Amino acid sequence: MKVLVVPNAARAATRAAGLVAGVLDGKDRPVLGLATGSTMEPVYADLVARFRAGAISFSGATTFNLDEYVGLSPDHAQSYRQTMRRLLFDHVDIDADACHLPRGDASDPDAEALRYDAAIAAAGGIDIQLLGIGRNGHIGFNEPTSSLGARTRIKTLTQNTRAANASFFERPEEVPRYAITMGIANILEARHCVLVATGGAKAAAVARMVEGPLGADCPATALQLHPRATVIIDREAAAGLELIDYYQEIHPDGEEPGLV
Ligand code: GLP
Repeated sequence: MKVLVVPNAARAATRAAGLVAGVLDGKDRPVLGLATGSTMEPVYADLVARFRAGAISFSGATTFNLDEYVGLSPDHAQSYRQTMRRLLFDHVDIDADACHLPRGDASDPDAEALRYDAAIAAAGGIDIQLLGIGRNGHIGFNEPTSSLGARTRIKTLTQNTRAANASFFERPEEVPRYAITMGIANILEARHCVLVATGGAKAAAVARMVEGPLGADCPATALQLHPRATVIIDREAAAGLELIDYYQEIHPDGEEPGLV
């Protein structure tokens, strides 16, 4: 796991956006795995700014989001599809048909999950997967005790997660109880996983993910098994790490000087 401790949240977003930009630049048909959550908002703002500056194009790109709320149609204002439109899709040159999210309103959720996994495979797999982390260590909507071998399926959200996401809804009781989410197995198949965490509220989850024992009680620990996982965190999110001096020595302020 590459742990990049950057000075602040703005730098974390720029850094993550730079990795996505590198994939957009480097491939004719890049496949991006996208995430929602407030941590991702400055990442998408940075990508939109790069697009407007003419530095990147999404024209050949395909995207797959991690998850969607069950019961919300794609045109519901709080659906993750609409969220992604507001933050990214409507502001760049991406083909709307190439932007995939699981359908939260599918009449047969199990069939929808299979369809989604098949669509990822048909696109050739995900080149770079953006991830946030929940305070309880969830990634996507893989809540604690999720099977680390699971693929896309329905998960029941914890009260903790529903409360954390209530600010996106008018009333807390509007937060759906279920989500359809890629599983840990899907995430581990991405060729590069990039997890971004900022702020002190994430420090305990980050410490467990990076340095704690692998376990389904903290699904993000599964990234310890990934051959190419990059964790980009600000100093506040890094506050619980015991080996912080080591990470700073290898990557001062999150930079990558190479072997010296
Ligand atoms: C939601 C999303 C996750 C995200 C998490 C943290 O639960 N499904 O993908 O990582 O929120 O969100 P935030 O960045 O707002 O703390």
